[in-house]
Amino acid sequence: MDRAQVLDWDLQRQLIPMMAEIRPLPSIYYPDFIAANQSERADNVIPGNDKQAHVEHIRRDIREFKAQHGLDRVVVFWTANTERYSAIIPGVNDTADALLKSIRESHSEVSPSTVFAVASILEDAPFINGAPQNTFVPGCIELAERHKAFIGGDDLKSGQTKIKSVLAEYLVNAGIKPLSIASYNHLGNNDGRNLSQEAQFKSKEISKSSVVDDMVDANRLLYRPADAAKGEKKGEHPDHLVVIKYVPAVGDSKRAIDEYNSEIMMGGRNTLGIFNTCEDSLLATPLILDLTILAELLTRVQYRRGSNDEFQPLYSVLSLLSYMLKAPLVKPGTEVVNSLNRQRQALESFLKACLGLANESDLLLETRVW
Ligand SMILES: NC(=O)c1ccc[n+]([C@@H]2O[C@H](COP(=O)([O-])OP(=O)(O)OC[C@H]3O[C@@H](n4cnc5c(N)ncnc54)[C@H](O)[C@@H]3O)[C@@H](O)[C@H]2O)c1
Repeated sequence: MDRAQVLDWDLQRQLIPMMAEIRPLPSIYYPDFIAANQSERADNVIPGNDKQAHVEHIRRDIREFKAQHGLDRVVVFWTANTERYSAIIPGVNDTADALLKSIRESHSEVSPSTVFAVASILEDAPFINGAPQNTFVPGCIELAERHKAFIGGDDLKSGQTKIKSVLAEYLVNAGIKPLSIASYNHLGNNDGRNLSQEAQFKSKEISKSSVVDDMVDANRLLYRPADAAKGEKKGEHPDHLVVIKYVPAVGDSKRAIDEYNSEIMMGGRNTLGIFNTCEDSLLATPLILDLTILAELLTRVQYRRGSNDEFQPLYSVLSLLSYMLKAPLVKPGTEVVNSLNRQRQALESFLKACLGLANESDLLLETRVW
């Protein structure tokens, strides 16, 4: 608490008796995946470089933690540093078998977060990735499917992206056409320090960049669609820039500055500027709690298609968690929904269906007719 410099001293003082007994379990440290400036924090490390042994160690920790506390279910949540992206290499991490083999051989492209995800899948503990890197390489998703285990990700949607997923939808749906969205962040906590290295920033940039794609795709009257004859893969879309800078003096109080520059009728321009200041960690922590509770709840939902069929669990990728995640992981081949409103609606409708409640509609026909 002292090192994080998030909570006021008086709050820290009150929490010390409750926190003092909590001892973090050791973790794994592969220096290549996080910024070099993080090395002095790696002070509680499982020794060695044998990734298979690391998987076994984490599996044992999950089992022992569960037994020691008499738990029905453990949810594993990645809130460690943003890692660099893992390269997707055929035969290394593109299938479940390749990934398991790469772990046995301690292949250098298997990241710490993927080792945790694999250990969690094998222990049937839902694994949620609160950071932006591609922990869920294709082999990891296939492994989760094979074990009918649950995974969710990626990257907590706490501030700037949350506003963007509301504002971009509003603008596009109103026919106000964003031509450019430029986002600048500066922050001074350890997350900012880690992101000051290019490879880790890249993971965050990717995660923050895709958020307007589906809203743009939803209105191809406003944005010209891709011209297949010209070999275009992507239709017209706004210029989208994301900058993150480390400014130690502002500490955990992150500044997010966004400019939305849009075209309106007859060549007019509409410019919105947003300045958002907030303690980053205090926005993120409630999301971690909500995601954990929701993930556990979803593990208890079962369905069957016909009355003679066996009940089965939901599909492995818990896309219903998208409401709180920046770059939603969804079932391969299905639509990614970034719109905050649609994500919330999906969650509400699903939970109502579980309770057998009617889905409310805004049709409100009785208010529209005589
Ligand atoms: N608002 C937010 O705080 C927010 C929002 C979205 C996403 N995130 C993401 O959540 C993650 C954590 O953010 P933070 O602000 O708490 O960062 P932080 O740098 O304060 O804390 C991360 C901690 O993880 C530790 N760590 C690194 N590698 C580890 C490993 N292999 N095993 C165990 N611990 C390891 C580091 O030593 C550090 O103490 C980052 O990826 C960040 O981008 C945070």
